[in-house]
Amino acid sequence: MNANNVYTPSEALIEEVITLSRNVNLYTVKTKEEIKWLPGQFFMVSVFGFGEAPISVTSSAREPLKFCIKKVGHVTGAIHGLRAGDTIGIRGPYGNAFPLDVARGRDVVIIAGGLGIAPLRPLIHEFMENGKDYARVFLLSGSKTPADVIYSEECALWEKRGIRVTLTVDCPDDSWDVCTGLVTAHLDKVEADFQNAASYICGPEVMIEAAMKAVSARGIPEERIITTLEAHMKCGVGKCGHCYMGPKYICTDGPVFSYKELRRLAERFGKGHGPQDDPMWGY
Ligand SMILES: Cc1cc2nc3c(=O)[nH]c(=O)nc-3n(C[C@H](O)[C@H](O)[C@H](O)COP(=O)(O)OP(=O)(O)OC[C@H]3O[C@@H](n4cnc5c(N)ncnc54)[C@H](O)[C@@H]3O)c2cc1C
Ligand code: FES
Repeated sequence: MNANNVYTPSEALIEEVITLSRNVNLYTVKTKEEIKWLPGQFFMVSVFGFGEAPISVTSSAREPLKFCIKKVGHVTGAIHGLRAGDTIGIRGPYGNAFPLDVARGRDVVIIAGGLGIAPLRPLIHEFMENGKDYARVFLLSGSKTPADVIYSEECALWEKRGIRVTLTVDCPDDSWDVCTGLVTAHLDKVEADFQNAASYICGPEVMIEAAMKAVSARGIPEERIITTLEAHMKCGVGKCGHCYMGPKYICTDGPVFSYKELRRLAERFGKGHGPQDDPMWGY
């Protein structure tokens, strides 16, 4: 990254844009310098003249840098207007990473809601590439409708490489012949050794809370239930105070937290976390 000023983005060339769903695109970008990242980290991604947005890395360390971006507003809308050959600004990687030690030798239960699969994807690659370090890996991935499902083709490849995948939608249509209902409704089918397992969860706030409670009720200890949070961010580096949650900054202390940490913070400081009226915990 730019050595002189932490806020100055580096230019990155968009090499490829793939449409994953009606409002989600996958961007492969090339940077001038070599950049390394860990599963769970994010970059501040900018479009010149529009601003910056925090975006998780969705690629594994063996792949080029990729971002999976949902069009929701000003910056993400501008990014969706870009094509291969255009440039974006990036700075990072920022934030902590998914802890892997909690899962070594254990069954792993990954629960994704909607776009929450994006930051979990590099973690899934870690489990596939170093399968001998982990026991069985279960993935429950839920979306609102079939038109919102992303990475479905990859799910088929992950299944071939040993990941036990359950895809579900809340509202099926005639084309959908897989599972329906909330992701948490399918936990009973997961034959994990829950007492001895670890879980990684990402999705909308309400889904994160329900999933953390559901795997906790099945016996996974709170310190082995891991999630990644969202917040409004400006600086991404612990300076502006936009992302605070009690005494923690989501950009530097997170975005990855254990259920144990979150429960302690909620007990001491309440669930709302900052200058915003609406605390945001998820994708
Ligand atoms: C650590 C982290 C990782 C993220 N990873 C991804 C990712 O991989 N892919 C992706 O598409 N998005 C990701 N997001 C969310 C993304 O940063 C927001 O969608 C983006 O900042 C919205 O900017 P905008 O200018 O397009 O929207 P705006 O025009 O600013 O706002 C549009 C709407 O989105 C809401 N919004 C704005 N910022 C956020 C935010 N940070 N979180 C939730 N809602 C927000 C606003 O309240 C408003 O309702 C991540 C957020 C964080 C904090
Ligand atoms: S975004 Fe500025 S302190 Fe976290």
